Amino acid sequence: MVNSAGHALFASLTSVVLKNFIYWHIKHSRKLYWYSHKCLCYKESIMVATRYPPPWFSVAPMMDCTDNHYRTLARLISKHAWLYTEMIAAETIVFQKGDLDRFLAFGPEQHPIVLQIGGNDLDNLAKATQLANPYGYDEINFNCGCPSPRVAGKGCFGARLMLDPKFVAEAMSVIAANTNVPVSVKCRIGVDNRDSYNELCDFIYKVSSQSPTKHFIIHSRKALLNGISPKENRSIPPLKYEYYYALVRDFPHLRFTINGGINTIAEVNAAQTEGAYGVMVGRAAYSNSWNLLGHVDSAIYGAPPSGITRRQVLEKYQVYGDSVLGIYGPKPHIREVIKPVFGLFYSQPGFGLWKRKADAAFQYCKTIKSFFEETLVAFPDSVLDSPIVEAPQGFPDVFANSKSLLPPSYIVREEELLYAFREEGQSEYSH
Ligand SMILES: Cc1cc2nc3c(=O)[nH]c(=O)nc-3n(C[C@H](O)[C@H](O)[C@H](O)COP(=O)(O)O)c2cc1C
Repeated sequence: MVNSAGHALFASLTSVVLKNFIYWHIKHSRKLYWYSHKCLCYKESIMVATRYPPPWFSVAPMMDCTDNHYRTLARLISKHAWLYTEMIAAETIVFQKGDLDRFLAFGPEQHPIVLQIGGNDLDNLAKATQLANPYGYDEINFNCGCPSPRVAGKGCFGARLMLDPKFVAEAMSVIAANTNVPVSVKCRIGVDNRDSYNELCDFIYKVSSQSPTKHFIIHSRKALLNGISPKENRSIPPLKYEYYYALVRDFPHLRFTINGGINTIAEVNAAQTEGAYGVMVGRAAYSNSWNLLGHVDSAIYGAPPSGITRRQVLEKYQVYGDSVLGIYGPKPHIREVIKPVFGLFYSQPGFGLWKRKADAAFQYCKTIKSFFEETLVAFPDSVLDSPIVEAPQGFPDVFANSKSLLPPSYIVREEELLYAFREEGQSEYSH
C-alpha cells in the first residue's frame, strides 16, 4: 500500500521534473535559436549597410507606379536612391501558382530595393517573406499607412493596423524571423481621432520594444478612415512635420525617415539640415523624376555629376522596354512601359506636343524603339541632350516652424512599461 503510494508519488514527481526539464529545454533552445538568429540578422544588416549607401533618400512605394518599369528608369537616373516596390499583399504572394516572378522579380541594377508587403495574417506574412527571400530584396517594409477602403476597410490592414501595435509587433517579429535583411514599418502619424503625439509614441514604443523594428518611415499626416478617397487622404489631413522631429528627439536609438509633401531637392536638403535621417519622396519622384532623381546622387550622396542626358537614358530604357513588352501575353502593354517616361519631361518645351503624338503612337507602334522614333521629334535637342543642370541652391524654410511646434517630450507611461515587460515573457515571437 505504502509502497504503491510512494511509487505513485515518485512517478508524479518524476513527471513534474521531466515536464519542467522538457519545458526548460524547449524554452532555452528556442532562446538559443533566437539568439543565433539575431546575431545572423545583425551580421546581415551590417552587410546590407556596407554594401549600399544609407537610405538617406528613398522613392516611396506607390501602387501602379513604382513597378519594374519605373524602377528601371529611376535607376538609370539615380544610382543611389533606395527604391521601394508597390505594396504587395502577403496573400497575393502566397497564393501565386508558379507566377511569383511576375510580382517579385527585378533586375540586379535595381539594388538597393525594398519590398513592401501588406497583410494581417501572421502565417501568410511569414510565408510571403520566405517566398520573397530568394529574390534578394535589401529590406522588407510593412505597410501600416494605406487608408484605402479596400485595404484599411474590408482588408483590415494598412493604416488600420496603427490601432493594434501589439499585432504590428508580432507581424514584424514574424517577418524578421523569416528573413536575413533589415525590416521597417511605414506608417501615418495617427488614425481618425487617435491622433495625439502620445498615441503615435505608444505605437512606436510598443512596436520597437516588442520586435526587431528599428526603422520607421513616417508619412507625416494622419489617415482618415471615414470613407474619403486615398487621394484625398494624401492632401486633406494636414502635414505635421513637428511630430516627425519630435520622434527623432524622443527615440534617439531608432531611425526615422520623413515623408509627405516634399517636392524638391532643396526641400530634401532642408529636411536633413533640420535633423531628418532619411527623406522619402513619392509623387514628385514619379511625376518629375528627371528634376528630382537627377540631383540625388550629387546633392545627397556627394557623387560627381553623371553628365547623363535624357536621350542616353531613353536609349538604355528602350533596350529594357523592348525586352519586356508582351512577356505575359498581352502584358505589359506599350502604354505601361512608357508611363514612367512622362516624368522625364515634366514642364519641358515640347511636352504637350509629345503627349499628343504619344496618344496616336500607342495605337500602332509595336516596339518601344518605333515609339521613340515617332514621338521624340516633339522635343528640341536642347531638352534631349542637356545633362542635368546643377541643383538649385538655398533652403526653403518648410521645416523651420516644426521645431517651434514640437509637442512635449514623450514619457513612457507606467502601463506601457508594464505592457512591454509583460509581453517580453509571453510573446511567441519575441527575440
Ligand atoms: C499613386 C499612389 C500610390 C501609393 N501607393 C502606396 C503603397 O502601395 N504603399 C504605401 O505605403 N504608400 C503608398 N502611397 C503613399 C506614398 O508612399 C507616400 O506616402 C505619399 O504619396 C506621400 O508622399 P509624397 O507627398 O512625397 O507623395 C501611394 C501614393 C500614391 C500617390
